[in-house]
Amino acid sequence: MKYLRVATLSLAGMGMLLFASIGTAQANGNGAGIIGSPHDFAADTWQTVRPGEICRVCHVPHDHGRSGQTYTVGLLWNRQLSTASYTMYNAAWSSSLDNAQSPQPDGIAKLCLGCHDGTIALDEFDKNAAVNGARGGVASLGDTIVDVNAGFQVSPFLDGANVDLRGTHPLSIAYNGGDTGLNPDTDPMGTSGDIASVLDNGKVQCSTCHDVHDGTGEAVAGTHLLRVANNTGTGSGLCLTCHDK
Ligand code: HEC
Ligand code: HEC
Ligand code: HEC
Ligand code: HEC
Repeated sequence: MKYLRVATLSLAGMGMLLFASIGTAQANGNGAGIIGSPHDFAADTWQTVRPGEICRVCHVPHDHGRSGQTYTVGLLWNRQLSTASYTMYNAAWSSSLDNAQSPQPDGIAKLCLGCHDGTIALDEFDKNAAVNGARGGVASLGDTIVDVNAGFQVSPFLDGANVDLRGTHPLSIAYNGGDTGLNPDTDPMGTSGDIASVLDNGKVQCSTCHDVHDGTGEAVAGTHLLRVANNTGTGSGLCLTCHDK
């Protein structure tokens, strides 16, 4: 039974990969700021209430007219968050994982997953649609009817009812220089500053490897908004930034 289940899963996985490689547009960033970058949704049709604005899809300057606060940890977040639960990459099956990891994604990873876990629509803003944005729930990352692609979903797999993150790099995990042989306070993360400056409360999050704004001096042009390229310059340069292998 166990083997049968594994075989079925990997077949499904191959199907997904095939689909993703045919269907995924190469929407790499150009490392020159958010305008025109993969996160510039100003001209997207699902942006019906505030067309033309870039930042508002994620940040709103005031809590005005809100029916309830969406995220109180900062960053003026204007979006509903995912209520999914996740199976983390964890020590239960990786005996070499040493660092402290949050039981569920937190901090900035939670913000990114609000779009990238595929469970929540891109137009899920505050509940008060009239003020802060539409709330139609039509366009989700897993959808084929809109101009986003399932290839951008971090994990298309489920573990029971949980979004399965076991196949994604550990998230919301402490970065411990001693563990990797590098010092986060002095070793650089590309041109973004030192490694410590891209940690979120000392933890590795999505934003540690990616710059969501595709900013000049942060994201490397021609990559998936990465802070260090993996396939140009030093091979696997991003990985070698933190892992002394
Ligand atoms: C408003 C929803 C939303 C949020 C929040 C969001 N993303 Fe995205 N992201 C998208 C969509 C939609 C795409 C696909 C864009 C396209 O189809 O070109 C995307 C694309 C990407 C890509 C691929 C870009 C490329 O060049 O191939 C990366 C990497 C990425 N996002 C990382 C992040 C990270 C990291 C965060 C959090 C720090 C984040 N995103 C937050 C919606 C979002
Ligand atoms: C797709 C979602 C998204 C969009 C669109 C977006 N941001 Fe952000 N922003 C984030 C996330 C996620 C973070 C936290 C991660 C980080 O700091 O890298 C963040 C962090 C910030 C921060 C604090 C940290 C820093 O980098 O300085 C500022 C300021 C900011 N954004 C401003 C803006 C402005 C201004 C715009 C529009 C021009 C904008 N953002 C558009 C998602 C977004
Ligand atoms: C340890 C570094 C690291 C972390 C942490 C990380 N990523 Fe990535 N991500 C990468 C690399 C490297 C690629 C390019 C993969 C490739 O080209 O095969 C990538 C690719 C992507 C892509 C492009 C589509 C794809 O799957 O190739 C998206 C979208 C993305 N990441 C989103 C996220 C989000 C959202 C998070 C947090 C939930 C996250 N990443 C956390 C390193 C990271
Ligand atoms: C920002 C720093 C950082 C970057 C960049 C980074 N990692 Fe990691 N990685 C970590 C940390 C921290 C851990 C957790 C280490 C631990 O707890 O033992 C980890 C864990 C891992 C593990 C799991 C180890 C285990 O014992 O189960 C693998 C495999 C891994 N990383 C590979 C990669 C690869 C491949 C890349 C490039 C795509 C990469 N990492 C990029 C910091 C990073």
